[in-house]
This record gives sequence, C-alpha cells and structure tokens, in this order.
Amino acid sequence: MSIQESNALHLIHVLSAVAAVGTIFYACAGAPETRKKTLMWSGITGLLVLLTGVRMWQAMYDFQGTWAVVKIVCWLGLAALTGIAYRKREHASLWIRLALGLTALALAMVYVQPF
Ligand code: HEM
Repeated sequence: MSIQESNALHLIHVLSAVAAVGTIFYACAGAPETRKKTLMWSGITGLLVLLTGVRMWQAMYDFQGTWAVVKIVCWLGLAALTGIAYRKREHASLWIRLALGLTALALAMVYVQPF
C-alpha cells in the first residue's frame, strides 16, 4: 500500500468515524422529521468506516489481530444506535453513554492492540 493510499484511508476512516458517532448524538435530540436524513448519513459514514478499516486491516496487518474483530463488534453496536435513539428517545442518556463506551473501546483497540 502506498503512503498516499494509507494517508487517504486513515483520514477517511477517522473523519467517517467522527461523523458516524455524531449522528448518534444528533439522533438523541433531533426532531423526528430529521430521522431519514440522519439514518442516511449514519449508513454512509458507517459503511466508509467499515470499508476503509477492512482495507487497512488487510494491507497493514494481513487480517491478523483480534483487536480488529473487537472494533468490528464496536462498529456493529454504533451502527445500530442511531436508529434506536430515534425510537427510544426516553433513554437518550443511555445511548450517549453506550456510544462513548463503544468508541472508547474501539480507540483502545487500535492504539493498544492488546491481542
Ligand atoms: C467503531 C468505530 C471505529 C473507530 C472510532 C475507529 C477509530 C480509528 C482511529 C482513530 C484510527 C487511527 C489510528 C491512527 O492512525 O493513529 C483507526 C485506524 C484503524 N482502524 Fe479503526 N475505528 C473504528 C472502526 C474500525 C473497523 C470496523 C475496522 C475494521 C477492521 C477498523 C480498522 C482499523 C485499522 C486496520 C486501522 C489502522 C491501524 C494502524 O494505523 O496501525 N476500525 N481507527
């Protein structure tokens, strides 16, 4: 993988992850009419996180490292939260805490790479 591709993948991966988590926060407070558009952005950014992440995992680690599997589990949880947050608004603080927890776990996995 060239340095340019690596830089582009990292940039798109992290920017999309920030935006994807942002959609969860928005879903906890936005008006019900915003649901469709927010879910659309949640889907687009989530897909970008997954595609860029899997490409980096393949090119840089040859699919080695269970930490990446843990990140995929975190990604699954985060991807589900935007829709859930619109439906069960009364538990908004739980969704926010879950989003922060899953994001912290995903970050710990990539920076510590414990397994
Ligand atoms: C759940 C949301 C996710 C967040 C918040 C997240 C966050 C990050 C961050 C901040 C980096 C940059 C590390 C750096 O360059 O210093 C990174 C890199 C990376 N992520 Fe993710 N990520 C997520 C999901 C995923 C998924 C689903 C995969 C798929 C396997 C993945 C695989 C990777 C890989 C392989 C790298 C490159 C590690 C390296 O540069 O050595 N990530 N991630």
